[in-house]
Amino acid sequence: MNKNIKRGLYCKMEKAKTYEQLVPQVEALIKDVDNHVGALANVSALLHSSFLHYFWCGFYIVKGDALELGPFQGEVACYTIKKGRGVCGKAWEDKQTAVVPNALQFPGHIACSSKSRSEIVVPVFKGNDVIAVIDVDSKGYSAFDDIDKDGLEKIAKIISPLFMTC
Ligand code: SME
Repeated sequence: MNKNIKRGLYCKMEKAKTYEQLVPQVEALIKDVDNHVGALANVSALLHSSFLHYFWCGFYIVKGDALELGPFQGEVACYTIKKGRGVCGKAWEDKQTAVVPNALQFPGHIACSSKSRSEIVVPVFKGNDVIAVIDVDSKGYSAFDDIDKDGLEKIAKIISPLFMTC
């Protein structure tokens, strides 16, 4: 097997292992914490510091017909995103994870930072309703794959109760 393919496989396995290890860490971090904004800030810090491919990582919370900026790690970001707009609004509207390998080519992409090149947005559900999204940006193209999708969807389920009082 060629060296680059081997390295790629190793990286994918490492990433999957890190997400697996994050699940109990996130559970412990939010257990019995009444300060839900603080808990979400800590979850974004934990995620951001766990992966080199994360450039921006945080939450947008559904308030009426828009997403409002929640706790995050990274550069300053836009406050409000309408349903259907940008990657976040699209994932909300579609009620499914959006993986965007090239943000520059995504129609309507909202460039909070000109450094972002790829993005993943994972909806957080209460029942059938989207109540928030997890948004992660990378400076590299095609940084996110099914491993990120599975890992973040698991984390979205765990943190869902935190948004019910935000
Ligand atoms: N790029 C996002 C906007 C949020 S920032 O990336 C933090 C979008 O297109 O929805």
